[in-house]
Amino acid sequence: MIILSIDTSCDETAIAVTSERKVFANAIYSQVLIHKKWGGVVPSLAKRAHIERIDLVLDEALRKFKRNYMQPFKNMSQVWEKIDAIAVTQGPGLAVALEVGIAKAKELAVLHNKKLVAVNHLEGHMYSAFVQNKNGNPARPYQFPYLALIISGGHTSIVLWENHLKYQVLGETIDDAAGEALDKAGKLMGLGYPCGAVIEKLSKDIGNKDIYAFPRPMLKQKGLDFSFSGLKTSFYYHIKELGESEKNKHLHGLLSSFQEAVFDTIVKKTNRAILQTGIRRLCVGGGVIANVHLRNRFRKLVAKHDGSVLFPPYKYLTGDNAAMIGVAAHYRLMQNDVIKDVSLLDRIARMRL
Ligand code: KG4
Ligand code: ZN
Repeated sequence: MIILSIDTSCDETAIAVTSERKVFANAIYSQVLIHKKWGGVVPSLAKRAHIERIDLVLDEALRKFKRNYMQPFKNMSQVWEKIDAIAVTQGPGLAVALEVGIAKAKELAVLHNKKLVAVNHLEGHMYSAFVQNKNGNPARPYQFPYLALIISGGHTSIVLWENHLKYQVLGETIDDAAGEALDKAGKLMGLGYPCGAVIEKLSKDIGNKDIYAFPRPMLKQKGLDFSFSGLKTSFYYHIKELGESEKNKHLHGLLSSFQEAVFDTIVKKTNRAILQTGIRRLCVGGGVIANVHLRNRFRKLVAKHDGSVLFPPYKYLTGDNAAMIGVAAHYRLMQNDVIKDVSLLDRIARMRL
């Protein structure tokens, strides 16, 4: 089954062509430069940029598919004949952004007479560790159950992943997401947006030292939920007390300590989830897991439990992309979970797992 998948949940216009777990084409237009100067994603600008770019991204994905697929195609109509279904992110995300992708998916499904599959964006992040290149690498057979972690700019969740499309959320953030907390702390220190990767670099420069021992939120409470907004407040008051010049002098130490507070909380909650469920196989997705230090923290954690951890095998799979949506859609399609009435599909901005 060949799937053309679309994700416009936030600030990337992304389209891919996949077959089971293999990616034959991946196209992405990032709006990050548009939103950078505003210090965060501006919904109206996101919507406009998605509308302006989606056809170009679609063209690029189709051209890549035509070039990469095993079989030679004479023309675009042959390419379209080969595609079995259109998949699209239904939520969660920015309503005005989701709408653009959904409208395009409906248009294509009707025009080319294809099945339409709706995917939860978080489900996509869960599948991101299993996405393969066009040659089927890495092989990585599934070995359910997993503890899946989604650590991104919009979400921080621990999920008990029992089997394909069968899962149960064990814990999630009750306020800010981990990536959002990093971005906000960076902003307070005068860094641009988003700044998770910059914080990673600054922290690495001083050996990821934890100098200030900021609070580890929610560790005293029972359960597996997260909360990062109090940590941000504590960081805010700390740098306010230091004053402008001291704050800048201690840029590395402050951000490294903040990053460590966020990561340590996530790793300790994951440790708790392993103890509670007895599941020692982790599978982690989302933009923040691009961070090498966090990957190493997870590797250390699973070594302690004689377990294992899977990360997205290619860098583009950590952030938002449509390849992961196509792979998740494959399993929906296998269960014949397709949209019965295309005209009725609508975005669910606060869609849950
Ligand atoms: O998954 P993603 O691209 O978008 C959402 O669905 O939210 O995640 C974006 C988040 C941002 O908060 C960004 O600062 C963070 O991922 N991020 C990182 C790194 N690269 C991106 N955080 C820590 N270390 C990184 N290397
Ligand atoms: Zn995402």
